[in-house]
Amino acid sequence: MFKSLLFSLTSLLIFFPAKHISSQLFPLPNFPSLLYSGTQGEWTLLHASIGISAMHMQLLHNNKVIIFDRTDFGRSNLSLPGGRCRYDPTDTVLQNDCTAHSVLYDIGTNQYRPLTVQTDTWCSSGAVLPDGTLVQTGGFNDGDRVVRTFSPCIDDSCDWIEFPNYLSQRRWYATNQILPDGRVIVVGGRRQFSYEFYPRNPPAPFSSSNSQSFNLRFLLETRDYDENNLYPFVHLLPDGNLFIFANTRSILFDYKQNRLIREFPQIDGGDPRNYPSTGSSVLLPLDENSRGGVVEAEIMVCGGAPRASYGQAVVKLFARALSTCGRLVVGHADPSWLMEDMPLPRVMGDMLILPTGDVIIINGAESGTAGWELGRDPVTRPIIYRPSSQIGQRYSIMAASPRPRMYHSSAILLTDGRVMVGGSNPHVYYNFTDVMYPTDLSLESFSPPYLLAEYAAVRPIILAIKETLGYGESFKVSFRVSEYLSSSMVSVRIILPSFTTHSFAMNQRMVVMKMQGVYHEASDTYTVVGVGPSTAEIAPPGYYLLFVVHAGIPSSGMWVKIG
Ligand SMILES: *[C@@H]1O[C@H](CO)[C@@H](O)[C@H](O)[C@H]1NC(C)=O
Ligand SMILES: *[C@@H]1O[C@H](CO)[C@@H](O)[C@H](O)[C@H]1NC(C)=O
Repeated sequence: MFKSLLFSLTSLLIFFPAKHISSQLFPLPNFPSLLYSGTQGEWTLLHASIGISAMHMQLLHNNKVIIFDRTDFGRSNLSLPGGRCRYDPTDTVLQNDCTAHSVLYDIGTNQYRPLTVQTDTWCSSGAVLPDGTLVQTGGFNDGDRVVRTFSPCIDDSCDWIEFPNYLSQRRWYATNQILPDGRVIVVGGRRQFSYEFYPRNPPAPFSSSNSQSFNLRFLLETRDYDENNLYPFVHLLPDGNLFIFANTRSILFDYKQNRLIREFPQIDGGDPRNYPSTGSSVLLPLDENSRGGVVEAEIMVCGGAPRASYGQAVVKLFARALSTCGRLVVGHADPSWLMEDMPLPRVMGDMLILPTGDVIIINGAESGTAGWELGRDPVTRPIIYRPSSQIGQRYSIMAASPRPRMYHSSAILLTDGRVMVGGSNPHVYYNFTDVMYPTDLSLESFSPPYLLAEYAAVRPIILAIKETLGYGESFKVSFRVSEYLSSSMVSVRIILPSFTTHSFAMNQRMVVMKMQGVYHEASDTYTVVGVGPSTAEIAPPGYYLLFVVHAGIPSSGMWVKIG
């Protein structure tokens, strides 16, 4: 249908210059609301095995993805290079291990190389600093207070660097968020009702505070019998405060003064959304073009498992997952959750913001919970959610992958708009056979329908952008497109790539940039003029992927350093 619509638009264009086409023809900003009908995206197997299970993933600004699992579950299927081994007397399973538990994957060549982690990274967290260095925090056992960094390099020389005992507390199942001043906040962790920072606070007298760790009572209060408050959903809001969601509750929190500003109503239904009743959450795109100049923040939480599901799953009663999402406008005077039904129930789903501003919900299961052997009925069909479409027209079901992606699977957005999926390790060990859902070492990519070749005519191709962009600074992006429709159908968006693990894409955010105009340069070449993000609270400093979207079809992303 879209094809014929496009065809008629193209013929219209022959008769009318672009400015005569009424924007009423197009339900903006997601112009082709018919886009997903009939076409359902495409799965590609990138590697049958990368040797490890993609439990944690982060895209870096040199187009490489750092991937790692854990060190405490035996030999992986990839040897460390040069006969290197890891000797760890405290490891609970294998003290002398000559296999890798981390790889660096190169998007351009589809190759990967092993990396070396020394201490246990199981169920850890991470964030990328403004200079592009990944800071990864905590884990289990000998890794639970370790900070590890990985700085991208142009050759093959870079590897993990570890800082033992850096953290003041054990951080296992914590959540990280990059802050406007370039620091990282590390929130919670199993039996940790507190937060701390990287870099850590300097000791007195250089700091007003002697403390490295600050109490967060909310995490204690939201811990129930099954816990259900691990990997809390943390989002940095445009006002500089944090939104923190745990179990069924959420707060607006001033981390600078360790002050609770307000508590929001509980999410409707009273069912938990955090590990092990793992749902997911995103901060919906922040739009700098919004009326009145106020950038409104809206949170969306989807899926999870009914209360007490974890205990039931342990005795092999696998409850049906939640099929609801809730949306909350945090700045509303009287905020309340707007609940919607997903077409499929899902626990352990990943939520990623696509370049179009839509949200893909991918991976996970239809029943059970997170944890060893506790999930059943994989949901192999992603859904795409269009936040600004009318209720009832927001969800589209995509094509199914042949592979279950259960506990310890993950997903990230790639530079070209594909979604990369990997992992699934629902066992204590690397069990590849004789189990219900074998540990999965494969990498797949999912291409959303906007990547179809039939949209090539309207797809923008970015020709040039600035490498760095300051706050409030105007910018130009030149692009080429063969069938230009109208300036009202052009937008520029930046995405901060996520650190994804356990169904939560930490640090993920999209900013829709303020637009000033689109100018025709020559034949099929155009320049869009816009303004960089207004503040570091809206877009904390760092490397973002910039996309030009035209008629609902995104360009490939280009890296831009904000701040
Ligand atoms: C492990 O690697 C070998 C090749 O090195 C491959 O044949 C085998 O299928 C891999 N096993 C798994 C479970 O991926
Ligand atoms: C997984 O493999 C380990 C040994 O590698 C074995 O002891 C364990 O029983 C297996 N787990 C299952 C669920 O089969």
